[in-house]
Amino acid sequence: MSEITVNGGRKLFGGVKIKGAKNAILPILAASVLIRGEVKLKNCPRISDIKNMLGVLRDLGAKASFRGNTIKINASKISKYEIKGENAKKIRGSIFLLGALLGRFGKATTFASGGCAIGARPIDLHLRGLEALGFKSEDINGATYIYRDEAIAQNSLEPATGFDPKNTRNAATAQKKALNAMREIKTREVFLDFASVGATENLILASVLGEETTRIVGAAREPEIVCLSGFLNAAGAKIAGAGTDEIIIDGVRELSPVVFEPIPDRIVCATYLLAVCATGGSITIKNTLYEHNENLIAKLRSVGAKIQTRGNSIKINVAELKKTPLSVHTAPWVGFPTDIQSQLGAMCAVRGIPLTITENLFENRFSYASELKKLGFNIEINGKTAKFEPTPRENLTNTQLALTAEDLRGGAALIIAALALPQKTTVKNYELVARGYEDIVADLKKLGADIYL
Ligand code: EPZ
Repeated sequence: MSEITVNGGRKLFGGVKIKGAKNAILPILAASVLIRGEVKLKNCPRISDIKNMLGVLRDLGAKASFRGNTIKINASKISKYEIKGENAKKIRGSIFLLGALLGRFGKATTFASGGCAIGARPIDLHLRGLEALGFKSEDINGATYIYRDEAIAQNSLEPATGFDPKNTRNAATAQKKALNAMREIKTREVFLDFASVGATENLILASVLGEETTRIVGAAREPEIVCLSGFLNAAGAKIAGAGTDEIIIDGVRELSPVVFEPIPDRIVCATYLLAVCATGGSITIKNTLYEHNENLIAKLRSVGAKIQTRGNSIKINVAELKKTPLSVHTAPWVGFPTDIQSQLGAMCAVRGIPLTITENLFENRFSYASELKKLGFNIEINGKTAKFEPTPRENLTNTQLALTAEDLRGGAALIIAALALPQKTTVKNYELVARGYEDIVADLKKLGADIYL
């Protein structure tokens, strides 16, 4: 694993442009399994999570290219429905393929999917929701088999084949049988006990093809779900209510290829807002949607950051910050995003702003705070809560220290702290940060940081 070295204490000045959102692109790539023909996605960041997801799709038989920031993917000819292999194990996003493969073939098999070590990451909500759609699941030797029981009982489905029209007649018959098997499903309702982002996305993907109407109640409302629905509707799906807690999907017979630009990555934008709050300075962030970071921006303004928005740009000026105590409870959208609590914790630690974070979504998302304590910061971690108290400068160690990133956003938080501390700090496990940031080192260097790999 490689490491980043930062000679901190320098203010940030200049501009940065945000690429498409990782957490919108991953489910959209899964959705390409449902589309006949080539899908083109623009402004995609060259991050490892997306490259790994393309690897999973190629393992299933899709054709995919990633040149510059444009992805072209054609999954017309895939014939496998097992999510496995090294790529699938690395990313949580591979779990979104469940819904897409079920929507296409009526069956799917998944081995343990990956993702950041921020918690157990179960899929019970996904499986309960899929059962409400008429699927059954069985765990056998570490794999989860999901299928429409008609398919298994009557062996009515021929081996899954692609949509390739050049295939033999029996493939077309098999597809018709698969679709007919889906049609037996009555109009269906799914009640999600918790607004899980991934479960909502999987249920949408499992419902867009076919002739049934599906109602999801208790759906997650994240912007990435609105983006996925926008992509699918552009391809011919009929989805209503995305962004609210009730989504209705009217099944259609097929989806057509589209050219699409995903929403900008709100978490990357938030990371840069917090970096300049930590170091001071003035930056302009282009290609953003202000409404995706309103909650954070309100908090940053309350401690004195000067933030203006114009069109798709946010300009932020930071001199001194007030030590007004902040309190944050992470929650599903439209609450405070769990994916930016780490970066906020690092900023408040280095700025001496009292902060209490209650992390309600993941059970292991304070590893960055334990690392910051090694530098001498006064942070008390107690279960779901972390309390950051101002720390006198003399209590901080000024020897060069290596901090270890344990997850993607925690790694970004350690970089924010290193940028602000007037000393040499290294952050290990840079690969974890590269999962979600295209080239944070180059971006920060452009803004004036003394940072290198
Ligand atoms: C998505 O993960 C994001 N990942 C996460 O971003 C984000 O933190 C999370 O949503 C919450 O916003 C992607 O979109 C690829 P959840 P997901 O299902 O879908 C529990 C990042 O840094 N749960 O909403 O896995 C789960 O354990 C990543 O970019 C169940 O108990 O999140 C967690 O406690 C990190 N059973 C909570 O729900 C289930 O079946 C939220 O999970 C599913 C989830």
